[in-house]
Amino acid sequence: MKEPRVTPSTRACSSPVQPFLVRGTIVHIISNPFVEQNDEGVLETFEDGALAIDAFGYISAIGPYQEVAKTNSAIPVIDRSGCIILPGLVDCHIHFPQALMIGAYGEQLLDWLQRYTFPEEAKFKSQEYARAAAAIFFKEEIAQGTTTALIFGAHFEQATAIAFEEARKRRFRALMGMTVSDHNILSDLVMAPEQAYVASKQLISNWHHNGKLRYAITPRFAPTCSPAMLAVCQQLMQEHPDIYFQTHLNENREEIKWVHELFPRASSYLDVYDRYGLLGPRSVFAHSVHSSDEEIDRLAETFSRVAHCPSSNSFMGSGLMPLKKHLMKGIIVALGTDIAGGTGYSLLQEMNQAYKVQMLQMFSAQQPHLAVKLSGIRLLYLGTLAGAQALSLDEEIGNLHKGKRADFIVIDPHQDTLIEVRLKNTESMNDKLFVLATVGGKQLIREVFIDGQIAHAKDIDP
Ligand code: GUN
Ligand code: ZN
Repeated sequence: MKEPRVTPSTRACSSPVQPFLVRGTIVHIISNPFVEQNDEGVLETFEDGALAIDAFGYISAIGPYQEVAKTNSAIPVIDRSGCIILPGLVDCHIHFPQALMIGAYGEQLLDWLQRYTFPEEAKFKSQEYARAAAAIFFKEEIAQGTTTALIFGAHFEQATAIAFEEARKRRFRALMGMTVSDHNILSDLVMAPEQAYVASKQLISNWHHNGKLRYAITPRFAPTCSPAMLAVCQQLMQEHPDIYFQTHLNENREEIKWVHELFPRASSYLDVYDRYGLLGPRSVFAHSVHSSDEEIDRLAETFSRVAHCPSSNSFMGSGLMPLKKHLMKGIIVALGTDIAGGTGYSLLQEMNQAYKVQMLQMFSAQQPHLAVKLSGIRLLYLGTLAGAQALSLDEEIGNLHKGKRADFIVIDPHQDTLIEVRLKNTESMNDKLFVLATVGGKQLIREVFIDGQIAHAKDIDP
């Protein structure tokens, strides 16, 4: 069965800006390397290349510099020769109210939530605290090269609205929702299902399709949501067919045991959500570390998406994600930093972790049937086009094709002498991308453009 296509959103009406060309080495992924015969076929590179950006922030041409310049002779050129220009990175799982608590020591998921996370999230009752956190959160996201993210909002309507406001101010493409829970959580974070419905409706009316912002129904996870809360989520999904859905799935063994105790009639963790009609192409499930074959089949059958969060899975000792099993079933898997289960905002570093997890799976756990080696090209796919596909936004973002939004990042090897030399010593673009993914990071990101406008420049805070 072919996956139902989601209607692309209309062209945004951002105000006109001066068109320009950007010159540099243009690199992007044009299709899914996990379904193609060889990686190289999915990579497009223009060594001395250029992008032309139109007055509305769309890419109007991509190609060799001489060709693009000939047909766009009257517009200014930003010369980034020597730099690598990549599409904006896409983070498919991150928590806004954990913006300020990365690096909390020594616990697995359930204790980590109780000890550090719930008390931190309770602070978002204060609008002042939420406002300060939102400014840091989105600034950091963009400085790390992320231009689109699927975000767990706060448990509070006001704090979630504040985060939407900040995203809009920075032109960041945020897909986000108020996180909801009605039991088994710190009392400050509890919201009755009826109240969750009313608050979600208000947020949806204010923020879903507000410019390029979108709303995502966000039950925290099955253990903190009663059947009544899951029914509210179902109702909201039915009332808003193009809305997104996000939650956690099969992250940690203790968590899974708890889900079975709480929902004895469900045949699996995934089935808890399935019974409420919460699976589908707009649904993104974070982790899926311990999903059974039956659950993976069901994710595939419903075209549900998976956010792989390798740094978080290692940090909290959750397990080695069986990536290959998901890919073999055709599931779209993209990356999530899972701040603050994950240890950093960098999707380049998330690629690094994803690679290592597969190596551990292959050689240490000796389960090669569950592992897949991740080349530079595959890693770039996971952090860009896969994210766009997971969010059904691949007609607008994910690579640098003509007609897409001009969301791109300028990687400047001169910012780090070691990496500059290492890249010079590296032959193929596949291997260069692998170097960037494993040892690269924020220090290399000179500029970030969103909708063709500068959103971050090193050492300048726009
Ligand atoms: N499961 C429920 N809540 C959370 C959370 O905040 N982070 C992670 N990693 N897993 C969760
Ligand atoms: Zn999470």
